[in-house]
Amino acid sequence: MSQIPAFVALNADGVQLIVALSSGTPVILHFGADLGSNLDVEQLNLASQEAVPHADLDDHINPGVWREDARGFHGRPSLLGHSTGQRWASLFTIKDVAKGSDSIEIVCIDQTAALEVSVAYELANEGVLKVTQRVKNLSSEDYSVEELNAWLPLPDHATETMDFTGRWVKERQPQRREIQVGTWSREIREGRSGHDYTIVQLAMTPGANYQTGEVWSVGLQWSGNTRHLVEKLPTGRTSIGAGELLLPGEVILASGEEYVAPSLVVSYSAEGIDGITDRHYRWLRSRPNHPSVVRPRPLTLNVWEAVYFNHNLEKLTQLADVAQSIGVERFVLDDGWFGSRRNDQSGLGDWVVSKDVWPGGLKPLIDVVKSRGMEFGLWFEGEMVNPDSDLFREHPDWILQVEGRTPPKGRNQQVLDLTHHEAYDHVFGQVNALLSEYDIAYIKWDHNRTLTDAAHFGKAAVREQTKAIYRLFDELKLRHPGLEIESCSSGGGRIDLGMVNHADRFWTSDCNDALERQYIQRYTQYVIPPEMLGSHIGPTESHTTHRTHSLQFRAISALFGHAGLEWDLTQTTDEERAALKSWAQYYKSNRSLIHTGRMVRIEQSDDSAFVHGVVAQDKSRAIFALVALRAMPASTPNALRFEGLEAGASYRVKLVEPAGEANYIGRQSPKWFDGVVLTGAALARVGVRPPILAPENAVLIELERI
Ligand code: DGJ
Repeated sequence: MSQIPAFVALNADGVQLIVALSSGTPVILHFGADLGSNLDVEQLNLASQEAVPHADLDDHINPGVWREDARGFHGRPSLLGHSTGQRWASLFTIKDVAKGSDSIEIVCIDQTAALEVSVAYELANEGVLKVTQRVKNLSSEDYSVEELNAWLPLPDHATETMDFTGRWVKERQPQRREIQVGTWSREIREGRSGHDYTIVQLAMTPGANYQTGEVWSVGLQWSGNTRHLVEKLPTGRTSIGAGELLLPGEVILASGEEYVAPSLVVSYSAEGIDGITDRHYRWLRSRPNHPSVVRPRPLTLNVWEAVYFNHNLEKLTQLADVAQSIGVERFVLDDGWFGSRRNDQSGLGDWVVSKDVWPGGLKPLIDVVKSRGMEFGLWFEGEMVNPDSDLFREHPDWILQVEGRTPPKGRNQQVLDLTHHEAYDHVFGQVNALLSEYDIAYIKWDHNRTLTDAAHFGKAAVREQTKAIYRLFDELKLRHPGLEIESCSSGGGRIDLGMVNHADRFWTSDCNDALERQYIQRYTQYVIPPEMLGSHIGPTESHTTHRTHSLQFRAISALFGHAGLEWDLTQTTDEERAALKSWAQYYKSNRSLIHTGRMVRIEQSDDSAFVHGVVAQDKSRAIFALVALRAMPASTPNALRFEGLEAGASYRVKLVEPAGEANYIGRQSPKWFDGVVLTGAALARVGVRPPILAPENAVLIELERI
C-alpha cells in the first residue's frame, strides 16, 4: 500500500482539479481554472472549511465525492444500494491512491459494508476530465446497486444551468434556468439516449454566453438510461453530476463482482460556452480514429426522402447519375431493401436482400454507384423486429419483454433482445454476411422505438442491451476495417458522448427543414463536432414541416456539418444542379477548415439572427454564416462582428455565395461586399454592416488573414 498524500492535483490547458485526501475521504477542493503554481493547497483547504451553523452537527464534515449520510450529508448520495435491506449505509475511507502524470485513482473501502469503491480522474491535454467510478462487492452476500452517480462541486458563483430537451424533428431545445434549492434531474428511461437527451448539462456564472463567463459541463459516456443532476442544498452549496439510470435489480453484484459506471466527461471554460465546445472538439479530434482524422467526410446522398420504400434500379440509377454530376462521394440506400420490407409494417429482423425488389441482389446497384465514383452505404435497424417477419415467426421469444405480456408496438415493431446470445448472433451473422458479400463502406444504423418492459427473462436489461450494441458495432468494425457507422434513432435519438466511441456519424434529425436545422445543429454542436453530424440539403418543401426554403438557405445550413443531400435530385432543374455542384465543390474545398476549426457563435442583441462560424486553429482563415431567422426588429440589422480572430492581424473580409444569391430585401447592398480589410480587433469590436436579408435566408462571409 502506497503512502496516501494529503492532496493530489491535475492540470492541463488552464484547467485544474485539486483533491484533498487528508480527511480520509476524497474531497474535491477545486475544479475549474488553474489556480497557479504559487498556490498553497493547504491554505486553500483551510480557507475552504465551512463555518458551523446552529441546528447542525457539531463539526462540519466535508462529505467528499461519496456524499455519505454517515458524514452528515443530506443531499443525494453518490452510491445507493443495499444487500436485502442491509449494507445501505457506507463510510468509505481511502485505501490506496495511484497518481500518474495525467491521472489519479483513489480506492476507498468500507469493511463494515463490505464494499470497495474507486474514483479515477483522467485529465486530457485539452482540459477535459474523465471521471470513472466503480463499486465492488466484498461480501459473500449479493449487493444491489441502485445508483452510482459522479458529482463535482460547483462554486457558489455558478448560479445558472442549461440543458436540452427535445422531441422527434425538434431535438436539443435549450432550457436555461437559475439554480435554486432542490435537485434538477434530467432522467432518460427510454433505453436509448433519446430525443430528449441533454448530451451535456451546463452550469454557468450569471449571464455567461458564448464568449464570456465561466462554464462547467458534464456529459455521460453512455447511450442507455441516464440521469443528469444539479443539486443545491439549503446550505447553499451546489453540485453537478450524472450517472447511469439503473432499473430495479439491473445490477446485482455477486461476491467479488464490480460495477463500473459509465464515465462522466467534465469540462470547464473561462471563455463562455464556445470554450466548452472547443475543448470537446479538440479532445474528440485528438483520437486517431476520429472520423475526419481518418479521412475527409464524404459528401453523402441518402435516398430516403427521394424514394422512401419505392426501390427500383432504374430510378436509383438516375439518382446516382445526377449525384455523380454534382460531386457526391457516398450513396446510401436507406430502409426497404430487405425481407418483406415494402413499408414500415414488416420485415425488420430479416436482413437478407429482398428478391422481390432486388432480384439480382444489391450488386447491380452497387456497380452503378461505384462506376460513378461513389462509395455505397446501406441502412439497418438490427435492434428491432417486426412481428410480421420470418425472424419473429421463428423466435417470438427473442424480444425484450416481461413474461406473460407483449410490449406495446412502436412503429409496428418490437425490440430484439440482443442480450440473448442467439439473437445477437443472428443479427451479427446476417449483417456480417452482407458486409462480406458486398462492397459496403458505411452503414446507417437506425433505432426507431423506445424500450418498454425491457426485460431479459424477467430481469431489466437496458444496461446489457446498451453494451450489446456497442459490442456489435465494435465487432463489425473489427471484421471490416474502414467500415463507418452512422448512429440514427428516428433522427437524433442516439447522439451522446458514449456513442462517439462506436459510431462515426450521427443522423442529427429527421428534420431537414433548414430553419429548424439552424437550431438543432447549433445546440447539438455544443459538444459534438460538425464532422460527426449529418446535415443534408432536403427537398424545397420540407417533408416534416412543409415549409419551403430556397436552395441557397438549405445549402448554407447543411454546410456546417458532415454535409449531404436527401432529395429527389432527378426532379431538380439545371439551375439547381449548377448551384448544388458549386456548393459541393465549396464543401470539399472547405471541409478541412470546417472539420478542424474552432466553432464560434457571436452573441446577438436580439433573436432575429444567428451568426456562427469556424475559425482555423491558427486563426489564418474563417468562414462565418449570417442567418436571418425571422424578420428583424430594426430596419437595418445589427453590426456583424467576428470573434476568435487574431486581434492585431488584418483580415480580408468578403461575402461568398457558393449556392446562389440570397434573398436581399434592402435597396442597396453594404459597400464592403466586394472586399474590405480590417484588423481582428476591429472585426470583433466594430464589425461590418450586414446586408438586409429576407427572413429564413443566410449568407457566408469568408475572412482571410493577409
Ligand atoms: C428513421 C430515420 O431517422 C430516417 O432517416 C430513415 O432512415 C427512416 N427511419 C427509415 O425507416
